[in-house]
Amino acid sequence: MRNLCIVGLQWGDEGKGKIVDYYADGFDAVVRYNGGSNAGHTIVIGGRTFVFHLIPSGFLKKKKLLIGPGVALDPLTLKDELGLISKEGGRADLLVDERCTVVTPLVKEMDAFIEGLRGDNPIGTTKRGIGPSYAMRALRLSPRAGDLARGVFDMSSAIAFYSSFMKNLPDLALWKSESKAVLEGRTGDVGGTIMQLNEKGSSVMFEGAQGVLLDLIYGTYPYVTGAHTIANYVPAGLGIPNSALGDVMGVAKAYTTRVGGGPFPTEIVEETGAQIRKEGKEYGATTGRPRRIGWLDLVALKYAVRLNGVSELALTKLDILTKVQEMKVCTSYSIEGEETSDFSRALPRLASVKPVYQDMPSFFGVELGDDRLPRVAEDFVGYLEDELKVKVTLVSTGEERSATIRRSA
Ligand code: IMP
Ligand code: MG
Repeated sequence: MRNLCIVGLQWGDEGKGKIVDYYADGFDAVVRYNGGSNAGHTIVIGGRTFVFHLIPSGFLKKKKLLIGPGVALDPLTLKDELGLISKEGGRADLLVDERCTVVTPLVKEMDAFIEGLRGDNPIGTTKRGIGPSYAMRALRLSPRAGDLARGVFDMSSAIAFYSSFMKNLPDLALWKSESKAVLEGRTGDVGGTIMQLNEKGSSVMFEGAQGVLLDLIYGTYPYVTGAHTIANYVPAGLGIPNSALGDVMGVAKAYTTRVGGGPFPTEIVEETGAQIRKEGKEYGATTGRPRRIGWLDLVALKYAVRLNGVSELALTKLDILTKVQEMKVCTSYSIEGEETSDFSRALPRLASVKPVYQDMPSFFGVELGDDRLPRVAEDFVGYLEDELKVKVTLVSTGEERSATIRRSA
């Protein structure tokens, strides 16, 4: 028995959904521990694309699915996704933790309202109510999943709070009954369930949402999400001991993307960026927004690897780089004439750092193969391993489940 955490090392959209699906065979359960329906996890099988926002990506492999108390739960998204699964002829074996904070229609309005207050500098949230849902939990004004399932909670203080700054609050009666219907019989103790699975020798996979640089504390604050996105949050977000975290697989794309506002040192403003966006289908899976594109940033990646205690790395979307002539990676930042590769030091001034690039041999037109990488790609992966001091055990060379190359650890 050995648990595994899959965590995104950039600003999300590293391809975690595909990696979770690929590895799920060896696990009995797949667990979401953070974020909410702001996430968009895309899996492509046999030309069909599945996008899930809330339900763990293990569903296609018919795994036990758990949603831990660290997740901000939108009952209506859950209803939609369960509906989609049953339309496919499937049945989700799902347990939602009692303690999940709930995304109400009111927190969604609050999300848009607060973005409006930010004027010319919005965060660019997904407007899924995630930040406000966690904030309402901290204020102790949020119902929890178990309360909705039982239909016993008093929202009068929360309503009074919203009424103090928002007009025309939506009526919640229908939402309450729909939420109760979807949650009834599905809530319980996720941490306890994980421990029971482990005790009988079953392994569990933890599926991260978003990426390290969007972490509420350790990311590019304030341009971050409302949740903790680092692997270190798994035990707290699920109610399991630290020793149950297991291995940490970091997922990084061979270039970088970011959706929404905030500093992005390696952003490509030239045509190559647009080309990568098109080839990599880099549009938000939740909002459809075009993602901002940048070169691989080793300064940020080293920080993410260290912060998460990454034990192995999955590198995704290498195939996209065979479509562009240029190829480089950022190895340090220049801040007011001084060079640094310490991301924490650069963080307070990230908007004004200048990336220092290393040109790499181009992959343009290279055939990546089915089970072994060609020399130029192997050299690139070897270079990353030396720089990051961690093994790349998996390389994704296409969106299909089959386009995956395992490398020995
Ligand atoms: P929120 O999580 O909706 O509050 O959005 C905060 C920031 O995180 C925005 O820049 C979003 O674009 C970004 N974000 C949230 N979820 C994801 C995701 O799953 N992938 C990429 N960016 C995300
Ligand atoms: Mg995504």
